[in-house]
Amino acid sequence: MSVVPHFSLESLPPHSATRVKALLQRLGATPNPQIAVRAPGRVNLIGEHTDYNGYPVMPIAMEREIRAVASATGGHTIEISNSDPRFSPRRIDLTRPLTSFAAGDWGNYFLAALNELEPDLEPRGFTAIFDGDLPEAAGLSSSSALVVASALVLIGMSGVAIDPLHLAERLARAEHFVGTAGGGMDQAISLMGKAGRALRIDFFPLRTRALALPPDVRVVICHSCVRAPKSEAAMQEYNRRPIECRLAAALIAAELRRRCAFPAAVERLADVDRSRIPLPAAEIDRIIDSALTPAAQTLAQLAQKLGRSEASLLETELSPSPRFRLQPPADGFQVQRRYRHVVGEAERVEKATRALESGDAAALGRLMDASHASCRDDYGISTPELDELVALGREAGSLGSRLTGAGFGGCTVHLVPAEQVKVFKERVWRSYYRTYLPGRRPDLATGDDPDKVMFETGAAAGAGFIDLIE
Ligand code: GLA
Repeated sequence: MSVVPHFSLESLPPHSATRVKALLQRLGATPNPQIAVRAPGRVNLIGEHTDYNGYPVMPIAMEREIRAVASATGGHTIEISNSDPRFSPRRIDLTRPLTSFAAGDWGNYFLAALNELEPDLEPRGFTAIFDGDLPEAAGLSSSSALVVASALVLIGMSGVAIDPLHLAERLARAEHFVGTAGGGMDQAISLMGKAGRALRIDFFPLRTRALALPPDVRVVICHSCVRAPKSEAAMQEYNRRPIECRLAAALIAAELRRRCAFPAAVERLADVDRSRIPLPAAEIDRIIDSALTPAAQTLAQLAQKLGRSEASLLETELSPSPRFRLQPPADGFQVQRRYRHVVGEAERVEKATRALESGDAAALGRLMDASHASCRDDYGISTPELDELVALGREAGSLGSRLTGAGFGGCTVHLVPAEQVKVFKERVWRSYYRTYLPGRRPDLATGDDPDKVMFETGAAAGAGFIDLIE
């Protein structure tokens, strides 16, 4: 079993160490043990919306993070506060059943970790202060970093040892507490990121493989300035995708069962394992084509094809978590397009793995471009702003550009030759932030500081405890 790593304060980037010291000062002198933790956000290089389908992803942990300090208080109350005044303090009474805060409240991410770990840890009261430099609602996984940091605070306060791989699996499930039906990428990369490396992550069961980034390229992130909150209305749009994918998997399985002995249980798209289907490849393709017709499907059509009632689909497939039910989309379920994106993206991750193994940055860049096109055309998760930023990033000299994260706003990621980064940023600043946005979206203020909306990141180490003994 491996354990969650410990970092010395000196080993942290100066900005991070300074923030931790400031938080400790705010916590004040106390005779009780104090702990500090950090959990990075992530930027996904390729493999978007593949994780919950059982296919791999390839993110890096970012050099921006959520950090927290905590001190035991005894008793049965947990108090959490945030150095960002937009997030008010929250109090949790451990003697009562956990109840969520209002939808979208930051405290729910702490509750997600507590709800998952409480039975094992039996936590006692403490006070914790959270802080971070990850832009929120930007597709950089600030919410999962908050869940991971919360879990480490709870674990640190209870003094138990826990395997990061096992914790990542549990926290992926835990986050469904807030109602999103996401996969396991964000928690896994935050916990298991490797400095200087991208991580290829496979799921069910979770496993990781570190891959060196090509030495002469940099990862540049640009914020489209369109907020992409995981909560609010965006949750309907996000959760719609995993649901459409599950429906696609069910339709394919039903059709296969009609045509051949395909007894395997199919829960997600990766379970449609071609190597175990006793038919020639072309025949499998025909079956999949007839199962997923190009036209969007209504709930009634799906129910009929699957031999189920609409009510049972609403209660199971359309309700992936206790806090969420999908309204059947007005434009119908787009099962064929979603399927095409997911299997194409899974193949691109395989090719991207080979590109990194051979240090071929140009090949990775081309795969990123193709990924963006597929996210836009088949998965329907891009926006005009993201498309423009991707196009302008390519014109400014990137080797490959794409939206990153869940989509619907947030950030783009660009693979830029190291010696081009300065020019790249100057060009994108002029073309997107100074020309396109003021012309098309004057409501989205960018300010005057390019570093607030565009930044380079190396691959950081995953989450851990910060040793406070000097
Ligand atoms: C969100 C989810 C992840 C993943 C991405 C899209 O970040 O939390 O599990 O599905 O979207 O790749």
